[in-house]
Amino acid sequence: MKDLRQCFLLPADEIYLNAGTFSALPRAVYEEQIALMASAESNPTRQATARARLPLWGMQQQIARYLGADAEEIIFHQNVTQALNQALFCLPWRAGGEFIASDQEYGAITNAAREMCRRNGLSFREFPLPLQPQNSDELLATVLNALTPETVGVLLSHITSKTGLVLPIDRIGTELRKRNVRFIVDGAHGPGLLPLQLSATDVDVYAGNLHKWFMGSKGTGFLRVARRLHDVMEPHIVGWGGTPRDATPIHDQFPGNAYRFQYVFRMQGLKDVSSFLALGAVLRFRESLGEAWILERISELGRYARRRLEIDLGLKCFSPIPELNAGLLAFEAPPTWRESNATERMYRDYKITVPFWVDRQHGSMLRISPHIWNVEEDVDRLLAALQGG
Ligand SMILES: Cc1ncc(COP(=O)(O)O)c(C=O)c1O
Repeated sequence: MKDLRQCFLLPADEIYLNAGTFSALPRAVYEEQIALMASAESNPTRQATARARLPLWGMQQQIARYLGADAEEIIFHQNVTQALNQALFCLPWRAGGEFIASDQEYGAITNAAREMCRRNGLSFREFPLPLQPQNSDELLATVLNALTPETVGVLLSHITSKTGLVLPIDRIGTELRKRNVRFIVDGAHGPGLLPLQLSATDVDVYAGNLHKWFMGSKGTGFLRVARRLHDVMEPHIVGWGGTPRDATPIHDQFPGNAYRFQYVFRMQGLKDVSSFLALGAVLRFRESLGEAWILERISELGRYARRRLEIDLGLKCFSPIPELNAGLLAFEAPPTWRESNATERMYRDYKITVPFWVDRQHGSMLRISPHIWNVEEDVDRLLAALQGG
């Protein structure tokens, strides 16, 4: 087995088992970004302006290809929270309708959806998803049963952050489209963890993070909106790109600006684009290892961790069956690890990074999300720490 730790900047005496929050950054990506930042300072104005044109558009095309989407459908964002806020607040909604979200959504995104409903005169309702369904048919049926004639929109995670439950978003998208219900997918954990073909689905909106499983720099994410909705979205930040009602783009020399959705939603002020340009180094790093190998290695580490913690240590596992699980695994915290500062104590005493928290439904939990820099021994050391108390 390849030991890839030397490809990252993680200290040798620490164990980082939390790709589900932030990935560790490959050294090659770090070096590329630092070089880009340094060279930009040779002439901030000329460099920044030049990079925001062809190089950034070229990167958008490469990332779109990786996601199975068209470059015109993608807007780069700092994170999923901002990306989904853009979609939720810029799309028109029918006042009086109902918007629903599962009870396993990420809190920040539920907040955004609830607030969008309040401002647009929609009602908001949460519906329960089974924690450990038998198969994806059960998930599809649960979502369809939650619809009412008033439902105009559904928010679901592609992969839930708490337990790593994978939702069949393609099948759900097809059914929602037939019913004319808009489908918003929180794909914070999708890119880099599961293969994506976004343009081949009926999902209306998909927002993803590139700073989790994909291994991009902090502050990289994207929004993908299906073409059929581009002309009805109204920007809530209006910059040089104007609004969809303006006849022609003002800055038509920007590549990509031949297309209105791009100039309206991309041209929203000056930004440092070095973190996005460094995504090319992530693609090269992934290619050098093999995309299929990366995905399989993450699954393999997950299966190992599950066996060790659930079977050998006897901790209750809240994650679904392996066929419906990706990346993230949640367990009941052992009795000696249930205090509010367990996360801090684990780091202080054992130099292991894993989140512990108290869940309103399931009590004290811990979540592990291993990635390719981990080895099986990292899991063994976590096990020993959990046993040690
Ligand atoms: C399912 C899910 N959605 C959204 C987010 C928010 O991501 P960000 O803070 O990068 O916007 C997270 C972060 O962990 C998440 O797990």
